Amino acid sequence: MAKPATAGWISLQNKRLLFLLLLVFSGSTALVLFIRGGLDSCDPRREGGRVAPAASDRVQLQPPAARVQKSPLGFMRSKLVLLVSHELSLSGGPLLLMELAFLLRNVGSQVAWITNQKSEDANEVTYSLEHKMLNRGVQVFSAKGQEAIDTALKADLVVLNTAVAGKWLDGVLKEHVSQVLPKILWWIHEMRGHYFKLEYVKHLPFVTGAMIDSYTTAEYWKNRTHERLKIQMPQIYVVHLGNSRELMEVAEDNIARRVLREHIRESLGVRSDDLLFAIINSVSRGKGQDLFLHSFYESLQLIQEQKLQVPSMHAVVVGSDMNAQTKFETELRDFVSKKGIQDHVHFVNKTLTVAPYLAAIDVLVQNSQARGECFGRITIEAMAFQLPVLGTAAGGTTEIVVNGSTGLLHPVGKEGVTPLAKNIVKLATHVERRLTMGRKGYERVRKRFMEHHMEERIASVLKEVLWKSKSNSRS
Ligand SMILES: *[C@@H]1O[C@H](CO)[C@@H](O)[C@H](O)[C@H]1NC(C)=O
Ligand SMILES: *[C@@H]1O[C@H](CO)[C@@H](O)[C@H](O)[C@H]1NC(C)=O
Ligand SMILES: *[C@@H]1O[C@H](CO)[C@@H](O)[C@H](O)[C@H]1NC(C)=O
Repeated sequence: MAKPATAGWISLQNKRLLFLLLLVFSGSTALVLFIRGGLDSCDPRREGGRVAPAASDRVQLQPPAARVQKSPLGFMRSKLVLLVSHELSLSGGPLLLMELAFLLRNVGSQVAWITNQKSEDANEVTYSLEHKMLNRGVQVFSAKGQEAIDTALKADLVVLNTAVAGKWLDGVLKEHVSQVLPKILWWIHEMRGHYFKLEYVKHLPFVTGAMIDSYTTAEYWKNRTHERLKIQMPQIYVVHLGNSRELMEVAEDNIARRVLREHIRESLGVRSDDLLFAIINSVSRGKGQDLFLHSFYESLQLIQEQKLQVPSMHAVVVGSDMNAQTKFETELRDFVSKKGIQDHVHFVNKTLTVAPYLAAIDVLVQNSQARGECFGRITIEAMAFQLPVLGTAAGGTTEIVVNGSTGLLHPVGKEGVTPLAKNIVKLATHVERRLTMGRKGYERVRKRFMEHHMEERIASVLKEVLWKSKSNSRS
């Protein structure tokens, strides 16, 4: 009797493998329709293209009623929600808002989407994302027309995504702004100086709540709005992000992981027992690839000096974009050739699919500088793949990585170069410690950073915001 079940299992596995391999081998935008992504940056516009492979458009097996009851967002059924995005692209901010749109659609909310800043080259990506939303029953319409104004006035809830989306309020709503403000939840994912402009955020004190990705970012916003702009933040809700179900599916599938690992290692020309330390972020100074390579070089020297026995070590820099960051990238490559470590450093172009790389590497390095990441979704994605994280002690990273348990933290800046080098050596020489850290990271993700955790956290925020906005409009 076991036979049919086994056969079924195998064909299911094959289908999934086929799907995963398709993702790996194909870079076509058609695939964008099947891909969902996440946030890994404080600045959604400078985010690396990095999206998890997903089979999110597969047939929903659960009947809607059961889904509604099970979801913590069930109370949003038949509520009208307007989502205001500053742009529609594959960067972190818009993709996260799309995830929210689909969570709400799953429980039967009416969801409308407007994009305030249509890029002048409204391209294939924009169209396929819009198409994907329309397919899931999200209404998409112009940010500037009467329909947007009417929907804002009718809506139970309006979510503004990113600080920049604030421009839409005066620009479009005009004399209706004050009517809409009590219904607004403002979702903020950025932590850079140029966002603290009154032009963007002057209405912030009057909306019902601000939802922010980490405590560090929330503190920063409180401080900056107060000190620089002399305005008060509204009620702040910190909501950590979660890993999508699709990413977890790949991360927890041993066969898929192995196939992806072999494939990527082959493409990089490294052996199966070599040690790979990877940094996965769009290449730019703020993400600290330069300092990482300095640390990596230093770690190779330490290993040589101390005659340590370790496998061949490699640094992988995923997120390269020579056209966008020519000067910085040239600097990185010059460093590598000056030090003669070309055989140990691999640059990989920006990619939509990070899962294969997470499957292929041994350690994730999160080296974002200055205030660090707002949250840094790649960190929890790596932990889902049981990878230890070597991260800067800044920003959201400190709220995700438990120093000494799920990874090791080092200071930002030049002071961090030697500590990171030593941490690289530690993980290279202590195999058991490395694997234990990876497992602990995975357990932490299962406990705190899953999609359903994010859904629960968002649900409690929406509940409170709805309640407050109702009592405001009554009084
Ligand atoms: C804001 O941060 C600065 C230092 O960065 C500090 O001196 C100041 O006291 C902080 N202000 C508030 C209101 O927390
Ligand atoms: C990476 O991108 C550069 C241009 O930015 C291109 O010339 C190169 O062929 C790409 N490499 C791969 C392997 O696709
Ligand atoms: C992390 O832990 C190590 C010891 O395991 C300690 O030396 C280091 O100072 C800690 N770093 C931070 C930022 O807490």
